[in-house]
Amino acid sequence: MKRAEIEFWDELHLNSLTKTEPYNFYTDLARQPDRISRVLDVGCGNGRNTLPFLAGAEEVVAVDPSEVGLAILRRHAGDQKNLRIIKSTAESFNWQDEYFDLVICHGVLHLIPQNEQKDVISKLQKMTRQRGLNVIVAISGTHGKTTKVKHPLYLSDLSSLRDTYLSWKCKLIEEYTTLSSAEFPYPRQFYRAIWER
Ligand SMILES: C[S@@+](CC[C@H](N)C(=O)[O-])C[C@H]1O[C@@H](n2cnc3c(N)ncnc32)[C@H](O)[C@@H]1O
Repeated sequence: MKRAEIEFWDELHLNSLTKTEPYNFYTDLARQPDRISRVLDVGCGNGRNTLPFLAGAEEVVAVDPSEVGLAILRRHAGDQKNLRIIKSTAESFNWQDEYFDLVICHGVLHLIPQNEQKDVISKLQKMTRQRGLNVIVAISGTHGKTTKVKHPLYLSDLSSLRDTYLSWKCKLIEEYTTLSSAEFPYPRQFYRAIWER
């Protein structure tokens, strides 16, 4: 990953231009610590989706290449003994097999070159215990208007992702579009997918 790419995310996190509210699904799951005890958030950014799990989970691992994002998470988390913060890309990150109850990869896959996305997903799948969940949220299209993209945008193909999860149970697939903004000057077509191993 290039220095300029990390700086792009550092700047966004520093200027509070990334979202701070957790996605509802995570706050609901965080209320079930018997089921969700070990959590991995890959590309956690400022940790908005990581934080809800700290109250009940046994272990939460938060990974991101942006030091600024991780510093914000560290500040909000305070002295939480069950949080492990790791500065890494998803491509370089490794962990033991069948460990996590929940793996979150939210808004990250489309930042990884297409020829590496499948390997990253396979790795995350291996780290997931039986009956554990993977939540993948990524950009699958831009309606062709990508001329002003300020960071690499590789897009993630939902149908190949479905193939990778063929032997898993699909709990949810939703697709939605967000309008252009100053930071992301192109309409983005997202999918949100949840699978159980
Ligand atoms: C759109 S933000 C999403 C952050 C967080 N998951 C959320 O939902 O708020 C994208 C994050 O992915 C991180 N990122 C970029 N490239 C990455 C990579 N190759 N591996 C892991 N994280 C990456 C960025 O540093 C940034 O914090």
